[in-house]
Amino acid sequence: VRALTRLEVLALDGPTFATLIAPRLREHGFTRERLEARSELGRMSLFRYCTSSELDPILDRLRAEEYASGAAIVRQGESGDRFYLLRRGRVGVYVATAAGEQPLGALGPGEYFGEMALLHERPRSATVRALVPTAVWSLSKADFQALIDQFHLREALSDEVARRAELQRRATGQPAG
Ligand code: CMP
Repeated sequence: VRALTRLEVLALDGPTFATLIAPRLREHGFTRERLEARSELGRMSLFRYCTSSELDPILDRLRAEEYASGAAIVRQGESGDRFYLLRRGRVGVYVATAAGEQPLGALGPGEYFGEMALLHERPRSATVRALVPTAVWSLSKADFQALIDQFHLREALSDEVARRAELQRRATGQPAG
């Protein structure tokens, strides 16, 4: 931590911090791990405009998952019951066509997937596979839907969902609809 301007700080010795301050921080969930997770979540595209207090309830709902390179995280045609936030690594998105599986694109840290099946109550529209060792956070369908309603994210998602669906239509040669 480097001073960016001239500043004045109050310092506390370790034992006093440990007895007076640390228990309160723990009580309020301000552990280092949680603060880091909250700041990571806050940097993700979907949550850029959320405040810390809005992010806290989401943090409690996230499930951390890891996938080896090559593993399928969602499979086209299966029913969808979770939403995914990409933390580390990279995934490829593939759609089945008459000519075989076609790549639609790749997603990296801070991006999300698995929203389409949940928003439209349809089977998974594509297969998403880890391209390298990949870490995600996943949310249940119910928690995703609560999140969408609470932050009015349906609109924030709709442009990207339309763009993704259009790429699928082009790859499969299906008419818009
Ligand atoms: P879903 O249909 O639930 O499962 C497959 C996911 O792949 C889909 O949600 C989107 O999150 C993602 N996806 C589909 N098409 C694209 C695309 N063209 N670009 C990026 N991601 C996509």
